[in-house]
Amino acid sequence: MSARFLRTAGFVLLCLTGLQLIRAEDYLSYVAAVYEHRVLLNPEPRVLLERRSALEHIDRNLRVFEEQAAAAARQGAQIIVFPEDAIHGFNYTRASIAGYLETVPDPNEVTWCPCAEPDRFPDTEVLQRLSCMAHENRIFVVANMASRQSCDRSTDLHCPVDGRYQFNTNVVFSDNGTIVARYHKQNLYFEAAFDAPPKSEYVTFTTPFAGRFGVFTCFDILFREPAVTLVKDMGIRQIVYPTAWMNQLPLLAAVQFQRAFSHAAGVTLLAANIQASEYGMTGSGIFTPWDSIVHHDTEGNSGKLLVLRVPVLDPAFIGKSLDNARPTLVPFSVYSTNNLSSEEPGKAHVWPTSYKQSDVEYCHKDPECKENADSPLTFTSIMMYDNFTLVPLQGNKGNLIICSGSLCCHLLFQRSHTDEFYALGVFNGLHVVHGTYYLEVCALVRCTGLHHSSCGGETEYAHTLVDFRLDGTFSTLHVFPGILGSGMNLEIPDHSGWESGGRFYISRRGMTTGLVTAMLYGRLYEKDDV
Ligand SMILES: *[C@@H]1O[C@H](CO)[C@@H](O)[C@H](O)[C@H]1NC(C)=O
Ligand SMILES: *[C@@H]1O[C@H](CO)[C@@H](O)[C@H](O)[C@H]1NC(C)=O
Ligand SMILES: *[C@@H]1O[C@H](CO)[C@@H](O)[C@H](O)[C@H]1NC(C)=O
Ligand SMILES: *[C@@H]1O[C@H](CO)[C@@H](O)[C@H](O)[C@H]1NC(C)=O
Repeated sequence: MSARFLRTAGFVLLCLTGLQLIRAEDYLSYVAAVYEHRVLLNPEPRVLLERRSALEHIDRNLRVFEEQAAAAARQGAQIIVFPEDAIHGFNYTRASIAGYLETVPDPNEVTWCPCAEPDRFPDTEVLQRLSCMAHENRIFVVANMASRQSCDRSTDLHCPVDGRYQFNTNVVFSDNGTIVARYHKQNLYFEAAFDAPPKSEYVTFTTPFAGRFGVFTCFDILFREPAVTLVKDMGIRQIVYPTAWMNQLPLLAAVQFQRAFSHAAGVTLLAANIQASEYGMTGSGIFTPWDSIVHHDTEGNSGKLLVLRVPVLDPAFIGKSLDNARPTLVPFSVYSTNNLSSEEPGKAHVWPTSYKQSDVEYCHKDPECKENADSPLTFTSIMMYDNFTLVPLQGNKGNLIICSGSLCCHLLFQRSHTDEFYALGVFNGLHVVHGTYYLEVCALVRCTGLHHSSCGGETEYAHTLVDFRLDGTFSTLHVFPGILGSGMNLEIPDHSGWESGGRFYISRRGMTTGLVTAMLYGRLYEKDDV
């Protein structure tokens, strides 16, 4: 929808809460590219390869990178992001990845353009190819590779027994080929080949066209360090994000969470995922806090280049001249240009006449509300390995609440059909499968069938149009709101933010596709290790 419009219109329109349109050409802007790469995998990742054979494998992926960097540059792109694991693949052991490793010098200590000085450091063929790609196309290149770094066990307590760190590493090259940033992934996702760095790294780089960018990788997006610190403490508003993400609906499809992060954090996210549909990996996009273009193709077997002109968001780069005209982005808050934040959120809605303001406040004021939550209709179902408590939607409009501990989720809805089964669910607890992290989640989901146990199942489709307002009594400030329409149609709320009383809410009316998921995905980072 918006993506199609952007292409035909030829310039970017930022749609701010549907009330005010701002043209990006009125602002400083730049052209960004991400490439979803159909990775050519090593079929036997657990078998050690000689460096020569590893380079032959790598070459097949890098040739595609070279074509795509050139194609992006021809379309005016100033920066291109390639996916995680896209050069070497995945499922290596610590030993079997050896042939793929290169030492990446710290750009804070060494200024090096590998394309210009290829012989300065040994065994750096990948760095040289990437550097020349950046230099020849005059484009910033962000790529992910496997690196090694020698360490000394007598002085470094964290140094692994084999005397070297092996890192999942993002490297950034400036448009003349110089290495300008190096980031070691903090939150590994069962990657036996790699070590996490002993301390999390807060890596940024500066471009002449858009100021500062922050860097992190894949699973990092679900954790405080370094993502939230970059955004909240360091003021980063533009992120490059290589990923190799396995989709999991109804809450964690790749583009669904990329959209939610960019919107919640108030950042531009340049997200490049692998295309490996046999492993459920697809979903890349260029996301501003207001708009996006995405690629999600679960049946595809080819790569996809996305290019988009986006506004510069680095406040330091923009300077003061444009400040007044620009939206103020406050991460994990509500932001807009039209001062909706100063309105009372409940009143900002024109609800169908059958809803009254008192409905919105129902349960917030009523002390008996929690008892209503134990209605006989309540059931449990496993959603993405978590035991959610849910209550079904009945009729074509209603007002529901469901609680778990201190978290109460409240939904006002009106819908076009009643033949699809929907439920409002809550989960407040530690997620322990494929990663350990503490969640506070309110989710309105389209169940895949008519049975309770089908709530939490995976579907990309729905035909029921739903107008809704969803809020929750979160104890965390870090809530990622997401709205997913049928056919992976990504939406952002009409309104969202904190209300008095510490409730976070989103609302959306008038969607043109059926509702698959509306979520408030809260992360309680501080309880992860309890
Ligand atoms: C990686 O390993 C897992 C677990 O053994 C397996 O299920 C998956 O198919 C493997 N993927 C690749 C690309 O080798
Ligand atoms: C190469 O790019 C870097 C980073 O943008 C810059 O600091 C450096 O001056 C450039 N070098 C040359 C030779 O242009
Ligand atoms: C927006 O609200 C803030 C605080 O309520 C106020 O200071 C500011 O003047 C308002 N801006 C506009 C354009 O109304
Ligand atoms: C989910 O929680 C409910 C209520 O605590 C419990 O009765 C049920 O056995 C749990 N389901 C699973 C699969 O653990």
